[in-house]
Formats: sequence, structure tokens, C-alpha cells
Amino acid sequence: MTPSAEAPADRLGALLQHRVLLVTGKGGVGKSTVAASLALAAAQRGKRVLLLELGARSVTGELLGARSGQHVAQLPLPDRFPTLWLAHLNPHQALKEYLREQLKLDRLVSLATDNKILARLWQAAPSINEMALLNALLALERDTLGDGRVRYEQIVVDMPATGHALATLGTPGGALGMIRVGTLAERARAIDVMLHDPRRTAVVMVTLAEELPVNETVELDRALREQLRITPAQLIVNRVLPEILTTAERALVNRLSGTEAVADGQHLLDRVAALEERRRLQLSRLALLKTRIAAPLLEIPELGERGPALVEAAAASLGA
Ligand SMILES: Nc1ncnc2c1ncn2[C@@H]1O[C@H](COP(=O)(O)OP(=O)(O)OP(=O)(O)O)[C@@H](O)[C@H]1O
Ligand SMILES: [Mg+2]
Repeated sequence: MTPSAEAPADRLGALLQHRVLLVTGKGGVGKSTVAASLALAAAQRGKRVLLLELGARSVTGELLGARSGQHVAQLPLPDRFPTLWLAHLNPHQALKEYLREQLKLDRLVSLATDNKILARLWQAAPSINEMALLNALLALERDTLGDGRVRYEQIVVDMPATGHALATLGTPGGALGMIRVGTLAERARAIDVMLHDPRRTAVVMVTLAEELPVNETVELDRALREQLRITPAQLIVNRVLPEILTTAERALVNRLSGTEAVADGQHLLDRVAALEERRRLQLSRLALLKTRIAAPLLEIPELGERGPALVEAAAASLGA
């Protein structure tokens, strides 16, 4: 951990104060892993948590060592995590629910979504799927238990990658630019209010300390603030290489370098040197991110685990 990163325990606690966490970033940087880790961390703190997937394929179930998420939230691991729900929104289902609110008549909804030609028309309507998914998110955020308490105290959303996430978050504003009255406008406004209320919603940007992801993150941060008027609440830099050698190991390497004693061990020393160079570059990119991005920063190290063990280790490092 670099010295100027905030104390993670406090930072994670502060981040989990926002009820809905929207996790996005460049493809492959670890969005799903981070989303699952944040959900796990919140559940470990005793919250009722929903981990919500919007993508085409459900992956977080596998990440947690459970079955894939379904449209209707399920408790994937009731014995280990009795307060962690998982859902994978089905766009077709979400669209049906959305249209049901607009059209009121169930049979009209079936006609609109089950008729192949009409269904294709809906699919072609700009951003209708994104609106339907955000509408489902709003419904989940508003959902209550019988006694009036919110059903999910924390909702962590594994959002699409940067460009698609920006387009999705921009849909309610876009719809409001076209229509200002009626159920559709009301719903778009309610979603937009949720997305812009920092107590309810926070955008979490995930990146690697590598050149392209860093550039894309700076661009994402700018687009969120300038185009959408959303101030990202958190930056998470994933897969940061730890210090490669201990002081004693460093001294040994220095002593052996260039001596004949190294012999066949030279390729190992070369590998160490390459890793140290990569870490040096990562640290300079972390420093750059701190100057370019105002959101507080958390780091997750490069971890040796995969699947559920990776998610648990990442959650532990976020709350360490
Ligand atoms: N801290 C980490 N240490 C080691 N491996 C990691 C770490 N975080 C993520 N990974 C690995 O990186 C890969 C990508 O992670 P993940 O699927 O979470 O990324 P993603 O951003 O959701 O990808 P996509 O854009 O495809 O949805 C996975 O193989 C995952 O196991
Ligand atoms: Mg993913």
C-alpha cells in the first residue's frame, strides 16, 4: 500500500454508506471481482446486500462459488452468507416490467414484447433496454420488507464497461430531454434523481495501474462529471504489485548480481528485475492517478487466488 492511500477500513466504511454502488471501468480490469468483493465486505459487516448483474452473462455467481444469478434475487450461499443476495437482470423480463408500468394492461405488454416484430421494434428504440434495467434497479432500491425497512441495505451493481456504462447512466437524462410529462418522464426523473443523489448512489471506478486503463479512467472521470454531472465517489486500483523482495532478499540479490555464483540463476534475477520495473511503473501511474482524479483511492493487490478465494482476499484487502 502506498503511504498516501487513505486508511482502507475508514474508506471502505465511508464507501458502504452509499446504498447503491455502481462499479464500472475498462473491460477486464476486475469490475466483477471488485463488485463481488464489495458485496461480500458489506455482507460481512452484517448488511442485507444485493449483488446485481446487468451483463449478458452472469459471472459473479461463479466468482462466489455459487449458481449463476437469476432475474429474481436469490440467496446463493445461505449457510456462508445469509444476507447476500444475487440477481442477474434479464433484459427481456426487465423490459416487460417497465412496459407494464407504462402500458398498465398486461395483455398489451405481452403483445408488445412477445410478438417477434414488435419486440424487435422495442429493441431498436434508443436505450429502451438501458431504461428498463435502470427501472429495475430503482424498483429494487425502493423494495421494502413487510415491516417497512428497505429490503436491501446495500446494492452493488456490476455495471457494463466504461462506454456502455456512460451511455446507460445518460439514458434517463436523455429521455427527459425528449419528454417532460407522463409516466415515462416521471420514471426517468425518479431514476435520474436516484443516480444523482450521493447518499443513495455512488459510482466506483475500477482500473489497473497500466497505461491504457489509466487513460480510460481519467476520461471516464471527466465524462461522468462533465457530461452526466456525477462525481465519482471512489477509485479502486486493482492488481497492484506488492513489493517484490524483502530487504534481506534485496541485499542478497545485490550481492550476487554480476558474480559467477549466479550462473543459471541469472534468468530468475532478470525476472525479478522485470517485475520490479513493472512495479515502479505502476507506482508512477498511481501517483499520476492521484493528481488527475479527485475521488479517494483504494488499492487491491495482485492476488494469487482465483474464484471465491480471490473475492474473499480482495474483500479482506479492501477492509484491511
Ligand atoms: N486482484 C486480483 N488479483 C489477481 N487476479 C485478479 C484480480 N482481480 C481480478 N483478477 C482476474 O482478472 C480477470 C478479470 O477480472 P473480472 O472478470 O472481474 O474483470 P471485469 O472487468 O469484470 O471483466 P469484463 O470487462 O470482461 O466484465 C479474472 O480472471 C480475475 O480472476
Ligand atoms: Mg465483468
